[in-house]
Amino acid sequence: MELVDTRDMVWVHGAIRGEFERLRANLPAFARGNDPAWERYRGHWELMHGFLLEHHTGEDALLWPLLRERLPDRIDLIDHMEEEHQVVHQLLEDLNEQIHALDELRHGNGDASNGDASNADLHNALAACDATFADFNAATIRHLEDEEQQLLPAIPGALTPQEWARLPQQATEILGEEASVKVLGYVLKWMPEADRPSMLATLPPEVIANWEATAADEFASYDASLEAIAP
Ligand SMILES: [Fe+2]
Ligand SMILES: [Fe+2]
Repeated sequence: MELVDTRDMVWVHGAIRGEFERLRANLPAFARGNDPAWERYRGHWELMHGFLLEHHTGEDALLWPLLRERLPDRIDLIDHMEEEHQVVHQLLEDLNEQIHALDELRHGNGDASNGDASNADLHNALAACDATFADFNAATIRHLEDEEQQLLPAIPGALTPQEWARLPQQATEILGEEASVKVLGYVLKWMPEADRPSMLATLPPEVIANWEATAADEFASYDASLEAIAP
């Protein structure tokens, strides 16, 4: 039987790790920035929020039920994965609410870069976000590491390559075309350069053609617009 190559899961995890760390580091500067900068940050937060939810939804629907049938002696491990997803989701939603509150604070105060009162409110809201971000990133990294170290080695032999391939197929269906192309950009950005040819070889020809024709350049300017700005 052809065995599943699970490296693509690790590449996806690399994008999640890298971009949520960057979102945490850049939040203060963007929250104190002008409206276009804040809108770029908000857009990227929405993208990554949707990406993480999609990644977990795919695993919840397409991995855990099958693995419960095929790996009856690893039920504890699958329970542990599901529990970690719940912890990560709670923190993700807490953070999402705090970022929306920050948005309301900015709108309520007009130009957030002016005025002592708005600065004090922003300072407090940013401190609250950063504390949740720290917990969220720690819980997420812990989960991704557990999945990579404990779960992925059990996949080959338990699932067929066709069953495994449902994950990226469903990801595209859930995310839609525009977000999928950005997510592809982030997977390529954070994965080891030496593995990029084998990653690209797994994609449908029309996706590669689109990436090479226009999407790679569009992604590069999107990503550059999220680089750190001076507060
Ligand atoms: Fe995963
Ligand atoms: Fe997971």
